[in-house]
Amino acid sequence: MQDSTDLFSRMKAVLDMNDRGSYTQPAHGLYPHQWLWDSCFIAIGLRHIDVERSKMEIISLLRGQWHNGMMPNIIFRDDPQYRTDRGIWRSWVNPFAPDGVATTGITQPPMLAEAVVQIGSLMEWPECRAWYRQVWPALLAYHEWLYADRDPHHEGLVLQIHPWETGLDNTPPWMAEMHQHQLPLWINIIEKTRFDKVISLFRRDTHSVPMDERFSTIEAIGLFDIQRRLRRKAYDSNKILDHGLFAIEDLAFNSIFIRANQHLRDIAHSLKEILPKELEHHISLTEKAFEELWDPYTMQYYSRDFITHRLLKEPSIATLLPLYAGHVTPERAKELVKLLENEYAFGPAFPVPSVPINSTWYNPRLYWQGPSWVNMNWLIIDGLKRYGFSDHAEALRESTLEMVEKSGSSEYFDPRDGSGAGADNFSWTAALAIDLLKR
Ligand code: GLC
Repeated sequence: MQDSTDLFSRMKAVLDMNDRGSYTQPAHGLYPHQWLWDSCFIAIGLRHIDVERSKMEIISLLRGQWHNGMMPNIIFRDDPQYRTDRGIWRSWVNPFAPDGVATTGITQPPMLAEAVVQIGSLMEWPECRAWYRQVWPALLAYHEWLYADRDPHHEGLVLQIHPWETGLDNTPPWMAEMHQHQLPLWINIIEKTRFDKVISLFRRDTHSVPMDERFSTIEAIGLFDIQRRLRRKAYDSNKILDHGLFAIEDLAFNSIFIRANQHLRDIAHSLKEILPKELEHHISLTEKAFEELWDPYTMQYYSRDFITHRLLKEPSIATLLPLYAGHVTPERAKELVKLLENEYAFGPAFPVPSVPINSTWYNPRLYWQGPSWVNMNWLIIDGLKRYGFSDHAEALRESTLEMVEKSGSSEYFDPRDGSGAGADNFSWTAALAIDLLKR
């Protein structure tokens, strides 16, 4: 491996390039706005360069928070050239949308508490305390919203209403459901008549990224169709659920939520705050309910359909995220580590593939259906360490850095040879490589 200061400066240059003053765009051209979990991952890396700037990355996210506590997955740039993006969402149709800021009407995995804690860990206590105080009301409101809005039956797990909410846009369990239950007749007709080939000529994302590294045009149309149905219901989850739209208790989202709740408790404890009783009750319920996602036959966790409680038995990178959640038993953690060691599952030359190699969905360069992603590796490394698998954690840290060293700050990587795919100069890859270098 080359000199680590060299890698550090290459990664820092990517963050500088994508810096938009108070926040960092994920990538020039393809992702010009501010994304929720991207900014959290970015802040985790930025803290090693400039703590104040990393705080700003988080504070700038809070301007998009809805009055009911929801944190949207995108805050749109206030620039005439992005009028269409804002118009697709029209967040203002919901009375809780923030004033003067255009956002989406859906959220993304709750990485906020993790970012807050990681930034705080580099400060002396009085300064950290002030930082925690500054973000506390927003953080608390976000977690309370997640329960109030997304756990309507008080079962413990939170549901998601669009694949984009998982951050793993075209991940197999959601795509399988979409193809089977969610595509309206007109999209099926487009597929049968192969008219999608014509529509694909107008796709913006495939100008800069090869077509075979993005989701299919049918999937893209399907995703926008679901978005349009959510907008028609003004992003009001009561109406959305009444109309039987997509609702899945996603494994990745709930794993991240469990860890976020642990951080929330720790922050409250250090601020000498008492969490509202109802929230405390919900948090403990989540950890118990999570076990209902375990399938004893295949010895893995899965996402679940919110209405029918049917497990969606398609393995994906989410399979390994209970390691990051950190509350599953050491025996179960060991089962997951076995999958990571298995070269036919999650253990190719440049892990961790977003879909196991032995899945029929596996496609090594196709977005969330095969490539390795640095943010997933970061979460898994963190989990492995906390479960005491320090050799596994170190090996994954090294192979992740090797991949970035070799191919630059790509959006995702081919797990066979570590070559880059997707967008170039992708911010969270750069930020998390910096963090892994500093560990
Ligand atoms: C893609 C990813 C999502 C990410 C966004 C911006 O949509 O799937 O996780 O937040 O790009 O980088």
